[in-house]
Amino acid sequence: MQVIDRVDGFRKELDAARVAGRTVGLVPTMGYLHEGHASLIRRSAAECDVTAVTVFVNPLQFGAHEDLASYPRDLDRDVAIAEDAGAVLVFAPAVEEMYPGGPVLTSIHVAAVSEGMEGASRPGHFDGVATVVAKLFAIAGPCRAYFGEKDYQQLAVVRRMAADLSLPVDVFGCPIVREADGLAMSSRNVYLSPEQRAAATVLHRALEAGAAGLAHSTDLAHSTDLAHSSDVMAAVVASESLVHLDYAEVIETDHEYRLLIAARVGKTRLIDNLGVAKFFDAGSEASGSISTESRLRRDAD
Ligand code: PAF
Repeated sequence: MQVIDRVDGFRKELDAARVAGRTVGLVPTMGYLHEGHASLIRRSAAECDVTAVTVFVNPLQFGAHEDLASYPRDLDRDVAIAEDAGAVLVFAPAVEEMYPGGPVLTSIHVAAVSEGMEGASRPGHFDGVATVVAKLFAIAGPCRAYFGEKDYQQLAVVRRMAADLSLPVDVFGCPIVREADGLAMSSRNVYLSPEQRAAATVLHRALEAGAAGLAHSTDLAHSTDLAHSSDVMAAVVASESLVHLDYAEVIETDHEYRLLIAARVGKTRLIDNLGVAKFFDAGSEASGSISTESRLRRDAD
């Protein structure tokens, strides 16, 4: 395992790997790795010859009153987790190494996809994400890059950015990894007190309740069903006094409905989401839905 903190050194290693005909997988992170990150690294290691993990708390994607200064950091632990999961390189640059000229004058804005939900609650956040991910892609030149579906909108932003800029990288989304009680794994969970940690499970419960409403619907295309599902999620969150809802929304794609939720627990902002796959049962000629993450896992495999 090599830990590199210089852009040139990181680029040189991965250039050499590609010249030798090896595929490069990249797992961009902000560190404080957990099992969710480890699952991305394992997938990359299974699919690519060389897996590199980046650990960089990117100032560009934090708002003025957000948790940049207090964001949890532990590089030694991150390196151990990355190595155990199959990475051979960790890139952990200082802010000055990534942004040597001071404030960046070039920023990537992915219109439309960045709007609403996280984009509305965290103005400028996705410009910071798109800019740093484009920079990491430019430095590392990965063949494949892996992101968690917990940051569902971020994944859409990164995919669109890579497609619009014709970047030669395949972007993959990987399923959310949850604690036994349903809480989505997040580096920010460490901020929660025991009471807040228990209350935070309401996000997953709200998603399940919203998904159940959709699953029982006979005509899923009705926008009233989607609005009802958002209301169900909001009502479940409202039952937990320690948790304050930011948004609960349902969006529709070709193959699924995606329920998305964001809330504050004390000073900690948490997000989560759940897919409800559309399916067509040829035997019964009835269309319906299935609300399981295992279905998503199957889709991802
Ligand atoms: O999801 C994250 O950890 C970050 O937003 C990312 C993609 C590493 C960019 O800083």
